[in-house]
Amino acid sequence: MGLLDDIDEILIPEEALRGRVRELGQAISKDYDGKEPLLVGILTGAVLFVSDLMRQITIPCHLDFMATSSYAEATTSSGVVRILKDLDQPIEGRHVIVVDDIIDTGLTMDYLLEALKTRYPASLRVCALLDKLPRRLRYVPIDYRGFEIPDKFVVGYGLDFSGRYRNLPFICVLKPEIYGESRTEAGSAASGVR
Ligand code: IMP
Ligand code: MG
Repeated sequence: MGLLDDIDEILIPEEALRGRVRELGQAISKDYDGKEPLLVGILTGAVLFVSDLMRQITIPCHLDFMATSSYAEATTSSGVVRILKDLDQPIEGRHVIVVDDIIDTGLTMDYLLEALKTRYPASLRVCALLDKLPRRLRYVPIDYRGFEIPDKFVVGYGLDFSGRYRNLPFICVLKPEIYGESRTEAGSAASGVR
């Protein structure tokens, strides 16, 4: 059985992703001209996005990664996030752009921004491919936003369900029978590193 059999609806086709990523890359290239920004990709979901985004940036830039643990379901509202892999380099005085696949509740990004601010970057901005605004619990300033999406659990282009579907080249929703349990459980059951 191929992955395509599990898909219910394609929300963002490949060409739309490519076009929007190009626009975001152009905007960043213009805004950071002369600044040599550091892109911080959040593992694992943002890997495809950040690698495509970087190829659309026409000024010198750098790349590093962080990995966070997803909060246990019971502690979702506390917003406690664990850093599983930290940056390889100090960011003091650097122009940092945190790049993530999706801002859902906002808890992960809110925590990360607070943590990174204590390291005195010259500037700190957020670039997110997807913005699932209806689920937001914490305000997150999204400086570069790909698409707003409705309150649906999506996969593809780096985003997974139980580790699967990251290699789909578009953003889509799976058939309800694939998610099985409730969507919230699907979200947190997915995997430690999201
Ligand atoms: P948060 O709720 O904003 O803290 O989102 C934490 C992480 O959950 C995101 O960075 C994603 O990796 C993951 N996530 C949230 N919503 C979805 C979704 O619809 N599909 C796949 N992963 C998701
Ligand atoms: Mg993520």
